Amino acid sequence: FDNRNFRNTLIDWYQANKRDLPWRQDQNPYRIWVSEIMLQQTQVDTVIPYFQQFMFKYPTLRDLAYADEQDVLKTWEGLGYYSRVRNLQNAVREVEASYGGEVPDDPKQLEKLKGIGPYTKGAILSIAFDQPEPAVDGNVMRVLSRVLKIEDDITQPRVKKQFEQYARELMSYDDPSSFNQGIMELGALICTPKEPMCMFCPVQEHCRAFQEGVEQELPVKSKA
Ligand code: ADE
Repeated sequence: FDNRNFRNTLIDWYQANKRDLPWRQDQNPYRIWVSEIMLQQTQVDTVIPYFQQFMFKYPTLRDLAYADEQDVLKTWEGLGYYSRVRNLQNAVREVEASYGGEVPDDPKQLEKLKGIGPYTKGAILSIAFDQPEPAVDGNVMRVLSRVLKIEDDITQPRVKKQFEQYARELMSYDDPSSFNQGIMELGALICTPKEPMCMFCPVQEHCRAFQEGVEQELPVKSKA
């Protein structure tokens, strides 16, 4: 497997094909953080107007830290999973109190914040701070399970850790943000759960599942 060719091809494709999404306009860590929390259980198309409204009302981390909780919940209404926004405001208040309102660029400090697990931590570090940290969610596991033909059950925490390790090995040290977002974008646009569009896939020649015609059997999930 040619790691270097894979990641360069992926990054070139991402640069040429990435969607123009509101959280891709800059590297502001607060905006990246909010977008990643919204995107965790909600589709991109649904998130876009909520993200814009949220940023209109709370343009900076400090605005969110001092905002009225009921007001914030109201702005989130319709997105669901309200613990996400409660944790977010709690964490933002912690950043205001402990780090002078600057989102930490240190993994150990980030992971102590409410609602920031391994995925969100990696997304913030790579997208906002250009650090070579993996950001592995279900979409990323789907793409990597196909490219590398991994038949382990992705619902197992041990297997997710294994995928984080693979993502680290493939990682681009030149452009971690485009590498991680490239995998996400490939999962959203091409390497979809059903009937992936392998004919248009930039990394088709690297994909073991495609070569063996088993892309539709992957990833393996025991639980629904
Ligand atoms: N899903 C999760 N994070 C994303 C991002 N940064 N861009 C597009 N889709 C995503």
